[in-house]
Amino acid sequence: LGNGLALTPQMGFNDWNAYGCNVSESLIKSTAQAMHTNGMQAAGYTYVNIDDCWMTHNRDSSGRLVPDPSKFPDGIKGTADYVHSLGLKLGIYEDAGTATCAGYPGSLGHETTDAATFASWGVDYLKYDNCNNNGVSGQSRYTAMRDALAATGRPILYSLCNWGQENVWTWGAGIGNSWRTTGDINASYSSMLSIFHSNVGLASYAGPGHWNDPDMLEVGNGSLTATEARTEFSLWSEMAAPLIAGTNIASASSTTLSIYTNTRVIAVDQDPLGKQGTMVSSGGGLDVLAKPLSNGDVSVALFNETGSTATISTTAGAVGKTGASSYTLTDLWSGATSTTSGTISASVPAHGTVMYRVAGGTSGGTTGGSTGGTTTPPT
Ligand code: GLA
Repeated sequence: LGNGLALTPQMGFNDWNAYGCNVSESLIKSTAQAMHTNGMQAAGYTYVNIDDCWMTHNRDSSGRLVPDPSKFPDGIKGTADYVHSLGLKLGIYEDAGTATCAGYPGSLGHETTDAATFASWGVDYLKYDNCNNNGVSGQSRYTAMRDALAATGRPILYSLCNWGQENVWTWGAGIGNSWRTTGDINASYSSMLSIFHSNVGLASYAGPGHWNDPDMLEVGNGSLTATEARTEFSLWSEMAAPLIAGTNIASASSTTLSIYTNTRVIAVDQDPLGKQGTMVSSGGGLDVLAKPLSNGDVSVALFNETGSTATISTTAGAVGKTGASSYTLTDLWSGATSTTSGTISASVPAHGTVMYRVAGGTSGGTTGGSTGGTTTPPT
């Protein structure tokens, strides 16, 4: 969407994965405070997002949505003021149907009123869901809210949540800043893997201001091991996905926080060229992905889908780098650097991912430029 927002994929927090319907002002404020001090805000996490269940079951006499006073004693406005005082932004959830997925009032037919209400509260981000939609087309429902948001004059990032229905990637770019490509994630390796497979082929639809959204991160949650959590963070970054942390931030372990704040991996996600990485090869559950970066480097992810350690190999040429006798590889998880004449290879644990930034030579066929090496100057 050409509203000037999400020129790189949005980063932030959303309560749904860890708390479900148990959202509250105190949770949002304490999460924002934790993000402010634990390195997440400095690493680029900006949006603190409220999901479903924040309101009462009835609109007020003017037809406006009402924050549940027992959950949000200072309202959404008071919560937003606090989040803004920390230099962060506030997101909210609504639904493009008659009711939200949890049964609270939806915005269908109330788009103008609700967008104006959100703007008056200081909301900076809307996640707009798809439940109870009466069979009205997604394009018309999501367009109505796009136009209502624009009419407020407030910059509000617009996140479409229609679960990949109606091939949303083919029309989402003109309507929203991102669109969910699948059903809901859960905190298991199998869920993460199946969503990865659905999202990875959609690279051509993504770019600055309009991103494929494979759903919120489960890093720190459920049965995901640290290896699997690093894989999720690696693959989402390689796919230029929104990075929306979905765990209990205030009590996250140091391992979980170190994953969320890996600035080398985040830089891949946030690269201004805005290309979603693509699958270069994938035999036998051993995947190689490549993502061209703005300075001519290429990010390579070696993902072992299988249940045992395996060596995954590719070449500089296969990931789009040519023209040098030597390339520098930076391991984005360990930080170690090495050089190679062309082979890019690693032993990768079961369900693990090794990520390299490949520098040197030229990057073939992309808009990236040379980073040195043997480029031939124009004659
Ligand atoms: C849908 C969405 C989820 C979450 C819930 C809330 O399932 O896809 O991300 O917002 O609704 O009810």
